[in-house]
Amino acid sequence: MIGVKKISHATYETPDLDQQIEYYTDVLGLTLTAKEKDAAFLASTLDHHSVVLRKGDHSQCVRLGFQVGLDDDLGAFDKQTAAHGIKTQRKNDPEPSIGEMVSFEDPKGTVMEVFKRADVPNQKFPTKGIVPHKLGHVAFFVKECKKCTDFYCDVLGFRVSDWMGDFFSFLRCGTDHHTINLMQDPENRHFHTAFELRGWGHMLTACDTLSLNGYKLLWGPGRHGIGHNLFTYHRAPNGLITELFAQLDQMNEELGYFEPRPWHRDRPQKPKVWAKDPSAANYWGIMPGDEMHK
Ligand SMILES: [Fe+2]
Repeated sequence: MIGVKKISHATYETPDLDQQIEYYTDVLGLTLTAKEKDAAFLASTLDHHSVVLRKGDHSQCVRLGFQVGLDDDLGAFDKQTAAHGIKTQRKNDPEPSIGEMVSFEDPKGTVMEVFKRADVPNQKFPTKGIVPHKLGHVAFFVKECKKCTDFYCDVLGFRVSDWMGDFFSFLRCGTDHHTINLMQDPENRHFHTAFELRGWGHMLTACDTLSLNGYKLLWGPGRHGIGHNLFTYHRAPNGLITELFAQLDQMNEELGYFEPRPWHRDRPQKPKVWAKDPSAANYWGIMPGDEMHK
């Protein structure tokens, strides 16, 4: 099957577009690459856009963009998706920098936008704000965790990196331990959007940048058990949670385990089902408050 190779962008509806643009540019350090009436396109360092903001009644993640490889046949991917009984759409020039796209909905109603990207824009590395490497993953609360997990694996080619119990899945489409997380919940809604930092030193300056701009941490810094990444979480002006992370586990697909790290408890560290245990959430011991689930 043709599977997606990386997450390219996430699209959010947000009531106050200008406030959210200011957060992404001045604080997170993304680059505003295009602006339309009621829409903004923001890049990290390579793709034309990693984040798309569109004006809407309330804050929510409505679309996710994924790239297939340049040698992958988008028409064949369309057929392969339709064979699952999924209604797909083909669009030409739907957004800046995207020539052709196959789109369809996942089981919770988020639109999947699958495309190829041959050209990358030559934008400068920003000098203000946090400036993450990239959009890393998007996590959702979902009513049907198992069904939604199967969808990402069967339709988009994701692999399961880990489960916590039977209610929280971590899915990869490249070497990163997870690009999509799904947690069982009575509601379908955004949980958090995560951007990758360079490492611990970058996390320190990021926390100071957040603090100087009036943003308090909701949780962290800590080290997750599952995925083993350093993490901090804060809330963006639109109310949605942003995670900043570093040192996420990297999968070696040929060997079937994650690249060895001194903080691993399993040797080798292979995909598994983790018990619902505090150390799966934070090796360093401090648990999230209620704020993380609002
Ligand atoms: Fe995360």
